[in-house]
Amino acid sequence: MFDRKHNCLVVVGAQWGDEGKGKLVDVLAESADCVVRYQGGANAGHTVVVGDRQFVLHQIPSGILHPNATCIVGNGVVLDPDTFFAELDELAAQGIEVSGRLRVSDRAHVVMPYHKLLDAASERTQQIGTTGRGIGPAYEAKIGRRGVRVADLCRADGMREIMVERIDRANQMLAMLGAPTRADLDEHLQLVERVAERLRPIKADTGLLVHQALRAGKRVLLEGAQGALLDVDHGTYPFVTSSNTTAGGAAIGAGIGPTDIDGVLGVVKAYTTRVGNGPLPTEARGEVEANLRELGGEFGATTGRPRRCGWFDATVVRYSVRVNGLTGLAVTKLDVLDSFASIPVGVRYRLDGEECDEVPSDVEALDRVEPVYETLPGWERSTEGARKLADLPPQARAYLDRLQDLAGAPIRYVSVGTRRDQIIEC
Ligand code: IMP
Repeated sequence: MFDRKHNCLVVVGAQWGDEGKGKLVDVLAESADCVVRYQGGANAGHTVVVGDRQFVLHQIPSGILHPNATCIVGNGVVLDPDTFFAELDELAAQGIEVSGRLRVSDRAHVVMPYHKLLDAASERTQQIGTTGRGIGPAYEAKIGRRGVRVADLCRADGMREIMVERIDRANQMLAMLGAPTRADLDEHLQLVERVAERLRPIKADTGLLVHQALRAGKRVLLEGAQGALLDVDHGTYPFVTSSNTTAGGAAIGAGIGPTDIDGVLGVVKAYTTRVGNGPLPTEARGEVEANLRELGGEFGATTGRPRRCGWFDATVVRYSVRVNGLTGLAVTKLDVLDSFASIPVGVRYRLDGEECDEVPSDVEALDRVEPVYETLPGWERSTEGARKLADLPPQARAYLDRLQDLAGAPIRYVSVGTRRDQIIEC
């Protein structure tokens, strides 16, 4: 399944996250040697269904279910160590052997409990609708040069002084934000001791490992988290996550050069969803939204929050093709649209009376745009059993053709269900 043309393929979300990257990475990882998570952290929830078992991976790369894949948590990730090891233990309990094939970058930053307290405190005023996993404060600390890296955690001494300083600063900030709780030094020191022991044997200069794998002719998959419209630079700022979710972030977060990457696959749902606050131009209302949510099982894999649902927004995906340099698209959840008699697609926007083909950089303008819809006929029969394009009803093929034309990138895969085999290679 791994695109034979590519040795180093980035898989990114091309909307607002939750596009089904986990399934795609799992399918592609069958013929990959190495899978790297390169940004985000425990805010992600990548769902993979194998047989009758469902795995939700938050920090461990979705390639882990293939016994031959080496899995790497890259330097661009912010690692929540307790939940990371809980995830690892859960996999082990389910018979997934990971020893010797999972590595964590010693340059990755660590999410501390005080980052989660700061996340909750900031939300009281900012109301981004974060996942509450401490992601923003951990990246703020990284950029502010006061983070804690995996390498620091694993040092034999010196961590106490660092933690005293960090906790003191965090508590000042919490007081300023009017938070009811304070970070506890002992709790943090115990955490450091607990996780350092388990991190030492798996920490590595992972950029070097990826480089060596590529030089040895191995196939590498770079697994993005969230989606382009949640990118801190290119997304609907400030309603974004705190990392570069677009393909440009892959080289930085995996520790390789951009010239190593030879393909970028953008994963898109056949419709649109978003969790958290911020503009969503093609958001559906009432019964239609409830229908999409129920049919698509649109509840957050990390927080359980109901996702906001709407129609495919071609302006967003076209933008995503541009800012990610997408070489192909994977359309997921086509089967969710099986029962609709007709399906609207947002082809462009109208902004203050003018037609507009681009995503405005000003979030207030994006909030004001009105989508211009084109309505395509539905197919009103199941696509779940389709394994090649010719198996799809003509209306479904026409729908995909139209999405491809509007987006400006070729569709390489179509997913028609949660299972591994429910995929069409185009
Ligand atoms: P944070 O990443 O927890 O700071 O959340 C910032 C925004 O990104 C919020 O709107 C979240 O709902 C959204 N977000 C973060 N991670 C994901 C994800 O994996 N899927 C979808 N939305 C996400």
